[in-house]
Amino acid sequence: MICFQILEQAYTDFAAAAPMPAATETLLAGWAIIHPPAGMQIIRNVTMRATAQAQPNIALIKYWGKRDAGRNLPAVSSLSLTLDSLWTRMTVEFDPALPTDRLELNGEAASGLLPRISRCLDLVAGTNRARAAVTSECNFPIAAGLASSASAFAALVVAASDAAKISADTLTLARLAGAVSGSAARSLYPGIVLLSAGDREILVETISEDWPLELVVAVTDESSKAVSSSDAMLRSAGTSPFYVAWVEQQEQDIATALSAVSSRDFSALAAVAEHNCLKMHSLLWTSRPPVVYWNQATMACMQTVRDLQADRVPVFFTIDAGPQLKAVCLAESSNAVAAALEATPGVRRILQSGLGAGARRISPR
Ligand code: PMV
Repeated sequence: MICFQILEQAYTDFAAAAPMPAATETLLAGWAIIHPPAGMQIIRNVTMRATAQAQPNIALIKYWGKRDAGRNLPAVSSLSLTLDSLWTRMTVEFDPALPTDRLELNGEAASGLLPRISRCLDLVAGTNRARAAVTSECNFPIAAGLASSASAFAALVVAASDAAKISADTLTLARLAGAVSGSAARSLYPGIVLLSAGDREILVETISEDWPLELVVAVTDESSKAVSSSDAMLRSAGTSPFYVAWVEQQEQDIATALSAVSSRDFSALAAVAEHNCLKMHSLLWTSRPPVVYWNQATMACMQTVRDLQADRVPVFFTIDAGPQLKAVCLAESSNAVAAALEATPGVRRILQSGLGAGARRISPR
């Protein structure tokens, strides 16, 4: 080790005395191999561990359908809210001594999710990387239609790139996260986020951070969904007679929602978001075999939102690939909305959140 330090110091002194192009580094199995232009090779041990946090995002104009399933590119653009009080924290440690990747989720080994985690690590750090120990903590139900994969893969790309000492901008990381979970790309960004499907690559950007919308989630069933969103999307595209119309109409829904956000027109946003959500679920209901993510409590929650709207409370609903209903409202009515949903038969618990930050590195605990 002393020998490496001496070599490294010698290279640093040499580089300072004779300015030359920057050295490049290859990260291999926990060692940084520095390739100075003069041909010298310096190897030093580096700590390859980092922790990141990301919050889930909830789409108001939904991503549903893939243009290119191999690259996981979306068929349509989408618009979402990044939350603040629900989170996933991921610690990635590349360790040359590990024979395989490992995943621990909320304190327990979770090998079922490992293939997607390993694929994401390969995309970020390359297939020659050292194996990694990944530790994940999540403060809300997983794989139950609450966008846990969005926050997980957004946090994973930030932690993995940091641990591997790869510097990448937010859009590059968003594209890597999106290649594993389409909606994860949006969790790299704060506030109200637009994901444009584009012709070749997705583009992601925050369009507003200063409209204080709140989200109230009525959790009706915490068990994992029977059909994954990826499988259900492929089924809709292949079998629903409405899929082509869905894709055709999406840019119009996006334009209507963007104009509602820019003019702070809550009722215009409510109308297009509910319409878009119900269209997405119509694709699911008309797929063969059909996919129905709702239960009776989901329907009862929709009625609660309709009753609040009749009382002129500014609120609307959206529902993803699961039975939870998400009510979006203005900050001043979030407690009334939460109380009404909590009193709805079949609701197990309520989660509340404002809008929050994009995925970011945090200090290891
Ligand atoms: O990113 P995925 O594969 O988990 O799919 C997300 C699908 C929806 O949550 C239903 C819609 C969306 O835009 O988030």
